[in-house]
Amino acid sequence: MALQRSMARLCRREMGGSMWRASSIANNYSQKGCGMATAVPPVTQSSTGAKGPTAMVFLNMGGPSTTDEVGDFLSRLFADGDLIPLGRLQSYLGPLISRRRTPKIQKQYAEIGGGSPIRKWSEYQCEEMCKILDKISPETAPHKPYVAFRYAAPLTEEMYTKLLDDGFGGGRAGRAVAFTQYPQYSCSTTGSSLNELWKWRNRLETKRGNGGVEPTGTIQWSVIDRWPTHAGLVEAFAQNIEAQLKTYPEERRKDVVLLFSAHSLPMSVVNRGDPYPAEVAATVHAVMQRLKFSNPYRLCWQSQVGPSAWLGAQTSHTVENYVKRGQTDLLLVPIAFTSDHIETLYELDQEVIKDANSPGVKRAESLNGNPVFIQGLADLAAEHLRSNETCSLQMTLRCQGCTSDRCLYQKKFFAGPQYSHLVR
Ligand code: FES
Repeated sequence: MALQRSMARLCRREMGGSMWRASSIANNYSQKGCGMATAVPPVTQSSTGAKGPTAMVFLNMGGPSTTDEVGDFLSRLFADGDLIPLGRLQSYLGPLISRRRTPKIQKQYAEIGGGSPIRKWSEYQCEEMCKILDKISPETAPHKPYVAFRYAAPLTEEMYTKLLDDGFGGGRAGRAVAFTQYPQYSCSTTGSSLNELWKWRNRLETKRGNGGVEPTGTIQWSVIDRWPTHAGLVEAFAQNIEAQLKTYPEERRKDVVLLFSAHSLPMSVVNRGDPYPAEVAATVHAVMQRLKFSNPYRLCWQSQVGPSAWLGAQTSHTVENYVKRGQTDLLLVPIAFTSDHIETLYELDQEVIKDANSPGVKRAESLNGNPVFIQGLADLAAEHLRSNETCSLQMTLRCQGCTSDRCLYQKKFFAGPQYSHLVR
């Protein structure tokens, strides 16, 4: 009840007094426990201490768990200028587009079982990773799993409130790692999640009413901001590809074309200097290297919306064109997401593969509960915890065309004293 009361207070303050929303969030926590595996002891460390507990926070876009959540999910998505830049018309066009798209997208979620599995997989992956981390990084144990989604429950503010209720911050400091689940960095995905985390950190921890004085004992954040070529990720992708290649007759196997598919970006974002296309290409190259370049391959881009120019070639066109030319053995590999979501289960499986109408067009399994992948996550997190790095050097560099103060100050915050002088 104490948690429910404090959540209700928070929501009245931050969300314009919607009691329905406040009680809904509080109930969500009290019923589901925010998907956390086990209770951990209260935080007792000082801000300079080296012992756990350590909060491991998975950042991702999230997805509606039920069709009823689709409307809210889309309205948050189209309100995010970091993801879908609509300029000064964002607050007008965003709600308009999301309202128009809701019935169609609800139908798509209904066809993949009534909701996105991304919450289930994210919570599972984070909990399993924390169990491994407790063994391989005892000096920072226990590790407590949290998930913060950008557009669906559990939202960043819910996660942050849970962190505070669990004893992190509030004068007791404690260490938290923001671990992006987008392996390749984009300002529209990881950047947007970090902007949101920074916003809620300022609202909930620095109490702006104190005249800008930094309170002592706030949470000590560090960030795993990109890992496009991490060995565990590459190995897990390669094994899933090899498993699916085995389903083709041996005499055709080496001629199967591998089509790596990643979510596209508006060209305005690409031309601003976003690092994502290069990092996705790095993952593809690392996976192909691990496979010893066993097959011909291409990288293509999916899920564009609206009439503006997006990065191509489009996945659907690519499949259509190759099949027309007689290249009917195509293996689609989702390369930029760590679990299944509507873009794999609906867009690739129900649209692209069905439309191809050719039994040789298949898809490699997503990473989901893959133990090789989860071990890789734990190895990566352990390396980060040992390194005492606040973030990667690469995160300190803003895009060439960036004009956003939010990016500037968010990066300065997460870069910390170690790197903040590099953020310009
Ligand atoms: Fe890339 Fe701001 S848009 S750093």
